Amino acid sequence: MAARIILITALLALASPRALAFDPSPLQDFCVADYDSKVSVNGFACMNAKDVTVDDFYFTGLDKAASTSNELGANITLVNVERLPGLNTLGVAMSRIDYAPFGLNPPHSHPRSSEILHVAEGTLYAGFVTSNTAQGNLLFAKKLNKGDAFVFPRGLVHFQFNNGDIPAVAFATFGSQSPGLVTAANALFGSKPPIPDYILARPAQLSKTTVDWLQEQQWLDIAQENGPPSVQAN
Ligand SMILES: *[C@@H]1O[C@H](CO)[C@@H](O)[C@H](O)[C@H]1NC(C)=O
Repeated sequence: MAARIILITALLALASPRALAFDPSPLQDFCVADYDSKVSVNGFACMNAKDVTVDDFYFTGLDKAASTSNELGANITLVNVERLPGLNTLGVAMSRIDYAPFGLNPPHSHPRSSEILHVAEGTLYAGFVTSNTAQGNLLFAKKLNKGDAFVFPRGLVHFQFNNGDIPAVAFATFGSQSPGLVTAANALFGSKPPIPDYILARPAQLSKTTVDWLQEQQWLDIAQENGPPSVQAN
């Protein structure tokens, strides 16, 4: 009986595309994003298959380090559906992340995807924080060396810091064509228009003056200035 229930559960899980991937499953071989389409769908409308060429599936330049001369000392080169149209409906994306010595990819989350990070050069201190639990928000963090991989579960706040004095490089892989990026500090203190200061002061245990000061600062997005402008929310 127990075996039968397990078998039925497993078959139901296999039958449900939701159990296998977060993005919906494709209904055709490919659906190359038509960035100019006026049709509004979940993702992008498909380009006419007759007009699709091999370059719609191609992205180059991931061997090149992006400039890390900014306040955070890091730079994210996104390869998501906004930059590689062939990814539309396929449920995968990736990025290259460059870190200057002591560079930081600041605490952020991806609302639509888990992430697996591979360290290609250098060393990183990386980790994620759980949802609220009875014991609080638990930090799972560790030092990563070249050749290591680490997974950040979907939606959880995570970070990477180059704790070495040489540049580091990592490649991230996502289970969504558009994982989304919410940088924690930017979302709280850099929203447009700003969140009223009394809303932030009490939960952050800051004075309204400090909140006002934080809200006047520039909040850098190290994923945005690289590549063509994004055509929908990342
Ligand atoms: C990221 O790197 C690209 C390519 O080197 C550069 O054009 C862009 O300004 C950099 N972004 C930031 C925030 O440093």
